[in-house]
Amino acid sequence: MYCVRKVTDDLYWVGANDRRLTLFENIHPIPRGVSYNSYLLLDEKTVLFDTVDWSAGRQFLENVEHVLDGRKLDYLLINHMEPDHGASIEEVLIRYPEAQVISTEKAFMLMHQFNFNVDGRMIQVAEGDTFSFGKHEVTFVSAPMVHWPEAMVTYDLTNGVLFAADAFGSFGSLDGRLFNDEVNFDRDWIDDARRYYTNIVGKYGPHVQALLKKASTVDIKMICPLHGPVWRNDFAYFIDKYDKWSRYEPEEKGVLIVYASMYGNMESAVNVLAAKLAERGMTNIAMYDVSKTHVSQLISETFRLSHIVLASVTYNLGIYPPMHNYLMDMKALNLQNRTVAIMEAGSWAPKSGSLMTEFMDEELKTMTVLNEQVSVLSSMNETSALEMDQMVEGILESMND
Ligand code: FEO
Repeated sequence: MYCVRKVTDDLYWVGANDRRLTLFENIHPIPRGVSYNSYLLLDEKTVLFDTVDWSAGRQFLENVEHVLDGRKLDYLLINHMEPDHGASIEEVLIRYPEAQVISTEKAFMLMHQFNFNVDGRMIQVAEGDTFSFGKHEVTFVSAPMVHWPEAMVTYDLTNGVLFAADAFGSFGSLDGRLFNDEVNFDRDWIDDARRYYTNIVGKYGPHVQALLKKASTVDIKMICPLHGPVWRNDFAYFIDKYDKWSRYEPEEKGVLIVYASMYGNMESAVNVLAAKLAERGMTNIAMYDVSKTHVSQLISETFRLSHIVLASVTYNLGIYPPMHNYLMDMKALNLQNRTVAIMEAGSWAPKSGSLMTEFMDEELKTMTVLNEQVSVLSSMNETSALEMDQMVEGILESMND
């Protein structure tokens, strides 16, 4: 059965939801699922904006057929070729043999690499080109690395709709409610939106900044992303988040404590630290066991907060492996501009503190590592308690900088 939503008078959401997928890109948990958004414009010509993941192809094709209501499909416009959107291209082209494909040179290269037969049907466009479908005229804006090199966004000059590709997307499936003002985004969606952005696009902050700059020159009336809700008001809220995330600026002053503990002694120590911080008035504290928390969640929280306490036991004379993995992910995603406090633990040769400090200094050069560090020899004692008091002071003082 078709399942569609009307977006404007002549534009329809014809995408699909996926609540069965456990891991997005086979790596990031999505307990709330994900939506693959596709849009169909009924102008003098009919235009399908992007497709969906193959797993949702059946629902998507039913939706397209229903909205076309017997009309032929004239154009398939592809903004982004990653298979969560591009996988159904070939099936659309088989079903609608008169459809021509509008996309970028790099996207056509990728279509050939994925063995899609688009020969003789390609209309290649580039930044600044315009195209008319009748009443609607669109222009194309390249969006390289948001989040693949071929990506573009399409702006409808007639009604101000921005087809934003991966930009302004969110993890989470749609429960019938399509628009941002039909949900409580700040309560129910922002964590998934942040986890989506930071883990999928987080590495490419300067490219997102470039796109935001271009977007600021046009009058946007609606943002249609390829995942999550469609935005039709309150753009400043989400653009401000994207601006902060892509500049690697924290959203909030607060302390993220990520700890690695084998037998509970480091866990006990960070509990003491958190209590001391709270005692001193710090109310924005988040604490995670690195062994039990998916790294995509840790990355998301690291983008959110200004201060990070890295608390790790020593393991094989190195950093505890899940903590090391988290640090490597921070590096891969280009994380910057945080204040970091280091706590180490070990029973005979604590090394994790010096190694984490070295990692920050050499691999994440824009981080500020506080001088106040805590070393726990097997378990907390008076010396480490004193060091912790100094660390608390250091964290709070640095918040006022
Ligand atoms: Fe949602 Fe980069 O694909």
